[in-house]
Amino acid sequence: MNFWEKLGKSERPFFCLAPMEDVTDTCFRQIVMKAGRPDVFFTEFMNIEAFGTKGEDKVIHRLKYAKKEHPIVAQIWGMDLRKYILGIKKIKELGFDGVDINMACPEKRIIKNGACSALIKDPAFAKEIILIAKEAAGDMPVSVKTRIGFNNIQTEEWIGFLLTMGLDALTIHGRTRKEMSKVPAHWDEIGKAVKMRDEMMKAGGKLVGNKPAKKTLIIGNGDIKNREHGIEMAKKYGVDGIMIGRGIFHNLLAFKTGGADGSSADFSALPIKKRLKYALDHLELFDKTWDDFKNYEDMKKFLKMYIIGFEGANDLRVKLMGTKKNEEAQKILEELI
Ligand SMILES: Cc1cc2nc3c(=O)[nH]c(=O)nc-3n(C[C@H](O)[C@H](O)[C@H](O)COP(=O)(O)O)c2cc1C
Repeated sequence: MNFWEKLGKSERPFFCLAPMEDVTDTCFRQIVMKAGRPDVFFTEFMNIEAFGTKGEDKVIHRLKYAKKEHPIVAQIWGMDLRKYILGIKKIKELGFDGVDINMACPEKRIIKNGACSALIKDPAFAKEIILIAKEAAGDMPVSVKTRIGFNNIQTEEWIGFLLTMGLDALTIHGRTRKEMSKVPAHWDEIGKAVKMRDEMMKAGGKLVGNKPAKKTLIIGNGDIKNREHGIEMAKKYGVDGIMIGRGIFHNLLAFKTGGADGSSADFSALPIKKRLKYALDHLELFDKTWDDFKNYEDMKKFLKMYIIGFEGANDLRVKLMGTKKNEEAQKILEELI
């Protein structure tokens, strides 16, 4: 049984931390884990074109993870089918629990050659990618993350098609490519996808080749604030799993249960010293993990996230933003804890 199958049999919904480029690297994932862990982690997305090139060393950091992060899924994107084979072989060697194909990213620079969300307009090629990926992955599960359409909502055609592909899991971000992140996520469409999947399974599953399609777990994504909210939406729309992205910026404890009544934990309710300790832990981990590989400036967006909403936070933030080195920031925080 692969880890998705196990999750499918466990208590619902299960929770995933969304892949977020330049945010969810191994350091941030480990900090989230300390705060309250989700059931599944995803890496930032990785362009498969880099595999087997001289440039591979420059981007392979995206696939760095710590043992305690299992189950962890590597997310990839790209258009070269041969590179999918190469990349997935490497992902298997690196010990990932699964591979996820990005068919969701809306950015112009990414989709101009037909990749990511542009695949919604080319299901025939999306099918080729999935079939190649499944073959290369062997017993490692393959999942897809996508949106509900390109210019318009196309849940029936596009999600309906993906549900016949024998994927282990499908994350549905409830917006079209055109909508970017500008409108509230269409959770009713995510709910529709669940109903379509259930109808298909009742009818015996559509055929993939000559095999019946397996039950694809559906993970709902878009605007979920925390565990409590995720549970509410899963009840309402029937999804198996919930993925939280930006919610973690506002509440590092988004995956944690707070009170005995099941209410969610709230980072801003923690004593200030505890909040500062998360910032310090992150600085130390960043230093230890990346040394000179990543620029200290990359760390500052996280400091902004931790140092907010208490008396003196503004001044402290300004002081930290003025630091030139990780150790300088660590020293400032150590004196306050
Ligand atoms: C800074 C940032 C980076 C992102 N990078 C990725 C990525 O690498 N791969 C991906 O599938 N989605 C990426 N996303 C989209 C999120 O995974 C998620 O689908 C989206 O933010 C909606 O979920 P939310 O409302 O919970 O944030 C990114 C989003 C943000 C805000």
